[in-house]
Amino acid sequence: MEIVYPDGATPLDPDEMEGLKFAHIETRGELDQLEQQNIQEGFNWLARQRKYNDFLTEAFLLELHKRLFGLVWTWAGRFRQSEKNIGVDYLVIGIELRNLLDDARFWLENETYGREEFAARFHHRLVKIHPFPNGNGRYARIMTDEILKSMLHVEPINWAAKPLGTDGEHRQVYIHALRAADANDYSALIAFVSN
Ligand SMILES: Nc1ncnc2c1ncn2[C@@H]1O[C@H](COP(=O)(O)OP(=O)(O)OP(=O)(O)O)[C@@H](O)[C@H]1O
Ligand SMILES: [Mg+2]
Repeated sequence: MEIVYPDGATPLDPDEMEGLKFAHIETRGELDQLEQQNIQEGFNWLARQRKYNDFLTEAFLLELHKRLFGLVWTWAGRFRQSEKNIGVDYLVIGIELRNLLDDARFWLENETYGREEFAARFHHRLVKIHPFPNGNGRYARIMTDEILKSMLHVEPINWAAKPLGTDGEHRQVYIHALRAADANDYSALIAFVSN
């Protein structure tokens, strides 16, 4: 299958493509649809979670990715083993995630940031680490919402108001805002999540 990637996406290497659980996928549209069905299953699972009362743990981070993508990809829920155009050196993913979880816990305990700035900073740090071969954007948006709801006790971000799946106006604004955040300017990303 030939995949055309939108701006700001991470291409899969041949090993990772091998992890596709369906043999007869011809187009990116078919793959998107399968992933979307899997994500819906993952949402159903998430809604039933009682065993996690603390979502800021590595165990939860990994299990959520597996629940969102594990029906489609064998490597779901496991850290990437290759370098990407986005993301930290794959050898330090675990360390960087631990730092992020510690920081997020500190921000919550000290009420460092309000809803939008917490969301912008947490989301950006998670996608910047880029823990997995694929699905990081969608995963990190869902993960951010879960922390907002269950630990900050505020409304999740209305991501659906600005569809990001394909190249378009919203995706361009979003990717530009992430790049500004890479340079430590969070204003555009805070504006993006404020809706
Ligand atoms: N410069 C950047 N800095 C930080 N994060 C970035 C940057 N560029 C892109 N990203 C994030 O990486 C995501 C793409 O990674 P990946 O392809 O693994 O995720 P995805 O869920 O498959 O894709 P998408 O969210 O684009 O549908 C983008 O959605 C965005 O969240
Ligand atoms: Mg992708």
